[in-house]
Amino acid sequence: MDPTKKEAITSGENLSYWIDSFPQLSFDTLKNDIDTDVLIIGAGIAGLTTAYCLALSGRKVVVIEDGLIASGESGRTTAHLTHALDDRYYTLQKLFGDEKAKLAAQSHTAAIDWIEETIHRENIDCDFTRLDGYLFLHPTDNKESLQQELEATHKAGLQTELLSSIPGIENENGKCIHFPRQAQFHIMKYLNGLARAIERKGVRIFTNTHAESIKEKVVIANGHTINAFNIVVATNTPVNDIVTMHTKQFPYRSYVIAATIAKDTITPALWWDTGDQDSKWVTHPYHYVRLQTYNDKYDLLMSGGEDHKTGQADREDIPEEERYKRLIEWTRKRFPAIKDIVYKWSGQVLEPLDSLAFIGKNPGNENIYIITGDSGNGMTHGTIGGLLIADLINAKENPWAEIYKPTRIPLKLAGTYIKEALSMAAQYGDWIAKGDIESIDKLENNEGAIITSGVRKLAAYKDEWGELFVFSATCPHLGCVVQWNADEKTFDCPCHGSRFSKQGKVINGPANTDLKIIEVKAVAQNP
Ligand SMILES: Cc1cc2nc3c(=O)[nH]c(=O)nc-3n(C[C@H](O)[C@H](O)[C@H](O)COP(=O)(O)OP(=O)(O)OC[C@H]3O[C@@H](n4cnc5c(N)ncnc54)[C@H](O)[C@@H]3O)c2cc1C
Ligand code: FES
Repeated sequence: MDPTKKEAITSGENLSYWIDSFPQLSFDTLKNDIDTDVLIIGAGIAGLTTAYCLALSGRKVVVIEDGLIASGESGRTTAHLTHALDDRYYTLQKLFGDEKAKLAAQSHTAAIDWIEETIHRENIDCDFTRLDGYLFLHPTDNKESLQQELEATHKAGLQTELLSSIPGIENENGKCIHFPRQAQFHIMKYLNGLARAIERKGVRIFTNTHAESIKEKVVIANGHTINAFNIVVATNTPVNDIVTMHTKQFPYRSYVIAATIAKDTITPALWWDTGDQDSKWVTHPYHYVRLQTYNDKYDLLMSGGEDHKTGQADREDIPEEERYKRLIEWTRKRFPAIKDIVYKWSGQVLEPLDSLAFIGKNPGNENIYIITGDSGNGMTHGTIGGLLIADLINAKENPWAEIYKPTRIPLKLAGTYIKEALSMAAQYGDWIAKGDIESIDKLENNEGAIITSGVRKLAAYKDEWGELFVFSATCPHLGCVVQWNADEKTFDCPCHGSRFSKQGKVINGPANTDLKIIEVKAVAQNP
């Protein structure tokens, strides 16, 4: 891996295997005013799928992306394609009823089928493979929950079965639920292929093009005006909405390691545990594992988990580096054949309060649509998003429209809502907390920190050569104090998950502007 690869644009310092192994496509940057029927903001899986579906139906479409293809969380995924939803079908049935849970199952199954068909139709070479998935019990989980989930999956119309052991894993003695015909792929190869297919269908894609302002029918990007009858905000977290959607979903960071493993040591599959029920986070962080072809001798075993709420790793006293260590330890115990750890990265997941994504018209808007709240099933949620938004724009009925409506209010989850809202409100206490270090002089090269200066909080970063960047630590979204993420070298907001690069540039919404710059001080003498 070459972590200094300059051409990659991604939402953190660590490069994922996907971006490191396959170059991200770039297109022209927007340089003049344009008109279109549909404007899509964001070139991750949600935005590109939407563009493809609308182009197929004959619409005139433009895509703008402020990085390159897959610069957001799509480039930092592990790309399991599954209908084994990470919030459990028995939870969905409790919240929405049996029929709606069945629709959710159908939509994820259809998303995997659609991806497979599209790969064949467009000849996209992206390592797509059908394989089995195994869900097993986390030691903190109730023994009955597997049986409960098995019955719930049957009620939802899925063909699952209980196995008395877990294929491929060591030191886990329990049973598991077998989900046949799941899938996996190489996300970068898939999204580049999809982008090329979209281009062939006449869609114009502009990269390095940032949407600065989003209003009904008018978007300003890189200072140019885009007039569009319909706008789809596929920016992972909606950057057009200030409050409403950010009270219904919560940002978490999830960690991934990839280790070499000799080819043919284990049969490829997808594995998940049911999550840590004792965790302080309402999402019950879980582990997820898959294999990926790497080179002639080795495959990669990718293992993810150890999540925490964005900007709040310190609330568990487990810094980021320690999370990788725990992940490696957990993985070595269950997959002892792994050898070297060759990749480590983290990414952001939006956890909707009631488990399902939000796909449809943005509350309060007539012609602005959003795709968000994708949780750990964002590959399929993003694909469902594309299929559903295309139908909504084409005024075509879609059976999934109701379950994914962004206006839904999850009343049955008032307790969870209060817990998450309190955790968010507590972050405003950072205004009176001490900074990370006493003064900027204490900052080492290639390090960042939050510093108290009178009544102000400053976010400071000193680069490899000692050049100093100082910003206001006030998040431009709703004013929380950002935190330094030493692993990805970013400033992360603990309130709604906005993130900023070490140079203060916004990389994750809901904030849509950079940290306010206070000072840039060059070193007296560059070594
Ligand atoms: C570690 C990890 C593991 C995961 N594993 C899985 C998995 O195994 N299976 C699964 O189904 N899901 C998984 N997910 C979730 C899934 O990867 C994401 O939900 C999904 O990729 C999100 O896609 P998206 O298109 O909505 O967003 P993104 O891929 O983030 O795309 C949004 C794009 O919008 C752009 N953008 C943002 N603001 C602007 C602006 N103002 N102007 C222009 N462009 C803008 C960004 O640059 C970005 O490229 C995982 C996520 C993580 C982090
Ligand atoms: S993300 Fe909302 S205040 Fe920072």
